[in-house]
Amino acid sequence: MDAILAACRGALTKPGRVVVLTGAGVSAESGIPTFRGKDGYWTVGAREYHPQELATHEAFEAMPWDVWAWYLYRRGVCRAAAPNAGHQAIVDWDARLGERFALVTQNVDGLHPRAGSPPARTFAIHGDIDQMRCSADCRLDRWPIPETVPALAQGEAVTAAIRSNLVCPSCGAMARPHVLWFDESYDEPRFHLDTVRRIAADAALLVVAGTSAQTNLPWQVVSLAARAGAVIVDINVEPNPFAEVADQTAGGAIRGSSATILPRLVASLG
Ligand code: OAD
Repeated sequence: MDAILAACRGALTKPGRVVVLTGAGVSAESGIPTFRGKDGYWTVGAREYHPQELATHEAFEAMPWDVWAWYLYRRGVCRAAAPNAGHQAIVDWDARLGERFALVTQNVDGLHPRAGSPPARTFAIHGDIDQMRCSADCRLDRWPIPETVPALAQGEAVTAAIRSNLVCPSCGAMARPHVLWFDESYDEPRFHLDTVRRIAADAALLVVAGTSAQTNLPWQVVSLAARAGAVIVDINVEPNPFAEVADQTAGGAIRGSSATILPRLVASLG
């Protein structure tokens, strides 16, 4: 870890941004199951679905209330969880670096903002499980899911009373969770595509934590930062493709949990 810390210190003396890119692993120690871990499956009727089948526009078209039930269950899990030391370390780093810092997160669980990461420097590229928007796309903005909508238990259906709260206030169409689904594309107004690309291309240091490197924009972030000559550090409990990219820079991979490593890293870079 000493050589990696030295490379990070070197990067901090250069112009350019300090960027942290997070995935589900950062919230694992808060008790939220990772996306591709064994707890991600969901049963509808007699069938067990993998998240990659349910987190799609196609599934929402075919069985909207089953998809909503899954999200309202997961929203409850996220709301019951508390940020951990990894989230806190990112807030501390942001407070120290100010405008130079940016957080790009794939997590929809809201734990980064709840820990205190400021909205102006936090880019949620896969949405927010606590928000909804118009499923007919009559407008681009989104709203908090009403507090009257409860968390559902596994297997619990979305009642008529709940459904009446999950509508677009403008056109009356059904609302949908504000998340990016597998059969949808990133864009700027909802998912900060252009802003995040610009930030990555300006990175002097990129710290990636708790992601399995399976999605498109995170790959662009890592590739653009590598091309810009950034030092890249990957923190993960397992090997993953971003660790290999990090190893090709002056940075490298640190094997360990994000709630342990992120606070150490941030403290050592004082
Ligand atoms: P995954 O579930 O695919 O990967 C979680 C990663 O975290 C794995 O590489 C684990 O090894 C690692 N991990 C687990 N516990 C950890 C810990 N305590 N400390 C550090 N690392 C740990 O989650 P993501 O990569 O975030 O998008 O998945 C990316 C996206 O896939 C999700 O945002 C989701 C899905 O498409 C949407 O829902 C739109």
